[in-house]
Amino acid sequence: MALFDHPEFDDHEQVSLFSDEASGLRAIIAIHTTAPFGTSGGGCRMWPYASDEEALRDALRLARHMSYKLALAELPAGGAKAVVIGDSRRDKTPALLHALGRAVHALNGRYIIAEDVGTTPDDMRIIHEKTPYVSGRHVDSSPPTAHGVFAGLRVAVARRLQRDLKGVRVAVQGLGNVGRRLAELLAAEGAELIVTDIDEARAREVAQALGAQLVTPDVIATQDVDVFAPCALGDVIDAPTLAALRCTVVAGSANNQLADEALADGLVERNILYAPDFVINLGGVIGAAHEGVQLEDASDYVWDMERVAKDAERVGAIMTGVFDRAEREAVSPQVAAVRSAKEAIAARRKM
Ligand code: NAI
Repeated sequence: MALFDHPEFDDHEQVSLFSDEASGLRAIIAIHTTAPFGTSGGGCRMWPYASDEEALRDALRLARHMSYKLALAELPAGGAKAVVIGDSRRDKTPALLHALGRAVHALNGRYIIAEDVGTTPDDMRIIHEKTPYVSGRHVDSSPPTAHGVFAGLRVAVARRLQRDLKGVRVAVQGLGNVGRRLAELLAAEGAELIVTDIDEARAREVAQALGAQLVTPDVIATQDVDVFAPCALGDVIDAPTLAALRCTVVAGSANNQLADEALADGLVERNILYAPDFVINLGGVIGAAHEGVQLEDASDYVWDMERVAKDAERVGAIMTGVFDRAEREAVSPQVAAVRSAKEAIAARRKM
């Protein structure tokens, strides 16, 4: 397993492997940067990776993206990611989570763990029994994520279509915590919705509640709409899907929407405005950063919606900055966003 020559390696500050035979823990914690704060943050993904190589790739890539997000949002931490190799439904036990807590603790505050795919706030509470370096014990970050996506989507529509959201046609893929809320916000603004989810009952229920048109998951990306909003999993846009898209804006919450970053240029060529995923879904990170100050003793978190609205405005403003830069430098929004993030990280490293 190569590290320093790995295509996803980007001068990561520290990459650690952790093993605990008794509980079955096998984990990688990749810290992209802690500079200049001495700490980093990022979720813990538990996934049945087919190989160590796949797990390493995910850890390196996701840690770098966390650095991008935290730097763009001007939050005082670098980016990191923990990946645990295993099936969260079968292998996740208190013993494994305790072993993971000990691993996090061994990093002595250089990494603060939070939930991600395959882990939950309940898991964070168990990990917290072994280390204080835990965030996300109480927070479901999907409301601020959804509000931020909504704000970013509105900015993208205004820029490309010179209009507000009333009557805009949006295809929402995935109606989970973020997608459903986004659909509700869009419906309240008078958008016309086409929705789908692989969970048919959920899709039917949301479609009925919001008066949306329901389609099957295989056709959502190719609907004739103004906006395609991917809010399910990553790698949604590959070369064949790009060729088949019939929207003018892609703006949704899913991480790693482009199967290959080079497809960002293909979107520009097709005159489709793409809101880079790690920018438009920043609301959750910004919102979760409030947890430390507010939540030490809370068992249930109630979001301060005024604050959520302010954070969403920030996402909209950051998105505007990205689109402005893309125009100025005649590059895709993806390239513009990566440039801004890298500059911010380099400046932090010099501090
Ligand atoms: P979730 O797990 O609550 O919802 C995902 C939904 O997508 C589920 O209802 C699932 O059935 C559906 N789905 C999965 N594959 C599908 C497919 N092929 N076609 C249609 N539907 C499909 O997840 P959540 O929290 O709503 O997140 C959605 C996306 O946003 C994920 O990619 C996540 O990584 C990203 N994200 C979420 C944040 C958060 O705060 N929850 C923050 C930043 C990004």
